Amino acid sequence: HSVAVIGAPFSKGQKRRGVEHGPAAIRSAGLIEKLSGLGCSVYDFGDLTFPQVPNDELYKNTIKYPRSVGLAAQILADAVHNAVGTGHMCLTLGGDHSLAVGSISGHAQQCPDLCVIWVDAHADINTPLTTVSGNLHGQPVSFLLRELQDKVPLLPGFSWTKPCLSRSDIVYIGLRDIDPAEHYILKNYNIPYFSMRDIDQLGIQKVMERTLEQLLSRRKRPIHLSFDIDAFDPTLAPATGTPVLGGLTYREGIYITEEIHNTGALSAIDMVEVNPLLGATTADANATARLAVDVIASCLGQTREGAHVVIDELP
Ligand code: ARG
Ligand code: MN
Ligand code: MN
Ligand code: MN
Repeated sequence: HSVAVIGAPFSKGQKRRGVEHGPAAIRSAGLIEKLSGLGCSVYDFGDLTFPQVPNDELYKNTIKYPRSVGLAAQILADAVHNAVGTGHMCLTLGGDHSLAVGSISGHAQQCPDLCVIWVDAHADINTPLTTVSGNLHGQPVSFLLRELQDKVPLLPGFSWTKPCLSRSDIVYIGLRDIDPAEHYILKNYNIPYFSMRDIDQLGIQKVMERTLEQLLSRRKRPIHLSFDIDAFDPTLAPATGTPVLGGLTYREGIYITEEIHNTGALSAIDMVEVNPLLGATTADANATARLAVDVIASCLGQTREGAHVVIDELP
């Protein structure tokens, strides 16, 4: 594989400081060395810089930093569009999950037929009119889904966006903290998801079989994996802004990414919401960043069973 790595140190989609240090934390946990060791050609594009937007006032007294989020997503969209256009698999290191508006839009500009696997405790599908928190990291999917556009007002900073997904192009895995309005949207628009309860009931093997069947059975198409580290149980990923009990085990998380790797269709990855300033200790922060590296490595072909190159005979 050739992999482009793009750091996106952005935090204004939510209110805890520190998630802008996610890219540095994930790099410090050995990401680049690990990917090179797997035989990937790594093109590290460094970290994007996001300009300060002056007077970025609340939209309708609720939505925080709309212009900053819109602009950061636009800058990321250009970078991802470029990287994928150059033939790389594109890895975005967040930053908060509002960035997915940019990474998925940019990926879709290059690959209009893409599909999305969204691994998260949260559905992040509030609209600017249903959000309770006002944080845009809880809303990215609402800007991307065609079916929802008559319910999504145009925010300042978002005029460049255009929805690139239909309900049948996305599958959620790991949900366990869904706002009532989000639950209404998932059910009313018939958006496919596997909650933690579904994983308990079916097992992760069937969940992945059904996920890939839903997205790839008609035709092989590029996959965008949007991975929020809070999908994992907080015992494994404590350094994140909105932890929720009862999350993925290490084995479930890695099984998801092994199966995605095995499709041969993975085209872009977001790894978001690693916040090294959270968690009780620096050991917590380091463990969370190492977990993010393991997930990414497994996306790029690291296997638990090991691998060998073809040799004539044992020495
Ligand atoms: N549903 C809540 C909200 O809309 C939480 C969202 C958490 N999102 C995340 N990317 N961690 O504010
Ligand atoms: Mn989440
Ligand atoms: Mn999320
Ligand atoms: Mn491979």
